[in-house]
Amino acid sequence: MSKILVTGGLGYIGSHTAVLLLESGHDVLIADDLSNSRAEVLGGIEAITGKRPAWENVDLSDAAATASFLGRHQDVDSIIHFAAYKAVGESVDRPLDYYQNNLGSLINLLNFVKTKPECAFIFSSSCSIYGQADELPIREDAKTKPPESPYGNTKKIGEEILRHAASAHDFKVIALRYFNPVGAHPSAKIGELPLGVPQNLVPFVTQSAAGLRGPLKVFGNDYPTRDGTCIRDYIHVVDIARAHLLAMERLVDGDGDSGPVEVFNLGTGAGSTVLEVLNAFTSATGVEMKWDFADRRPGDPAEVYADTQKATDVLGWKAELSLEQSMADAWRWQQSLRDS
Ligand code: UD1
Repeated sequence: MSKILVTGGLGYIGSHTAVLLLESGHDVLIADDLSNSRAEVLGGIEAITGKRPAWENVDLSDAAATASFLGRHQDVDSIIHFAAYKAVGESVDRPLDYYQNNLGSLINLLNFVKTKPECAFIFSSSCSIYGQADELPIREDAKTKPPESPYGNTKKIGEEILRHAASAHDFKVIALRYFNPVGAHPSAKIGELPLGVPQNLVPFVTQSAAGLRGPLKVFGNDYPTRDGTCIRDYIHVVDIARAHLLAMERLVDGDGDSGPVEVFNLGTGAGSTVLEVLNAFTSATGVEMKWDFADRRPGDPAEVYADTQKATDVLGWKAELSLEQSMADAWRWQQSLRDS
């Protein structure tokens, strides 16, 4: 058993990862400032696992608060760092908040890891660092273009900070580049809690199907894809969470041998169009969606999906849950919110 700090552990991917860590017998400490999450998520984690992880409300972009927090938890063996702002549109309006929060918190945590280089560090990165790739599926060594948004840039710069810091201070890091995380825990006790009008496709679909929003706007029908709508690689959040355990085990076991920072794509390897997502939702739930075509959304690349061979070869990880399963779980979660 090891003690693992999960930053942002009350958020969407963090809470699912905390569940798997607890189920695997680890001791979990959550740091989360509730800026995009709720304390009740602890109850959801406890309902699934029978264990209530320790939680502290810490602003990790505050250097003094982070140093004091970690000073009280010198015994952490691993840090899985999810805590970050993640709304692409908002990042365009508030770039300085995004750079300060996402990069400040990373630097503050690394100042601790520098003093304890045996501490495994897992970083939440994103496929948004690739922009519109020249070749599909996208491999980890694809040439990246400047990210479209400040959010994407915080992930790209975050990886660069990790490379320099891990080389200089001799610690090991794994950065996991998520494609489009969707779905919820099959128990429907934790899931995504978007505040306000969801900007991402699947939360909008479930809220629209539940009657909380109007018809879905499908952004663009003239992309050069099989049905004219954009293609993305939608991956179940539990599959994403599982990869974090494998990545952590790799670092703790000392198996990381390809440089200070290893990066892995986390996707299914297959892309789905927006219309295919809507069909999967209806076939998984029996619920018909109302939708209309609308103009393209600025900045949306036509097609993004992952080459996941490296994660399979090195981590022994592969996505296992289908798009239909993601849709069924996302819908069950939406319904549980209505009942709560
Ligand atoms: C965005 C971010 C990505 C982040 C992901 C999950 C970029 C370019 N993308 O991905 O980094 O990891 O969110 O948070 O930075 N769509 C509609 N109608 C809607 C909403 C979406 O048709 O109401 C379409 C979009 O045009 C897109 C697809 O659905 O083709 C998925 O959109 P979305 O869920 O917002 O994710 P991405 O933009 O792919």
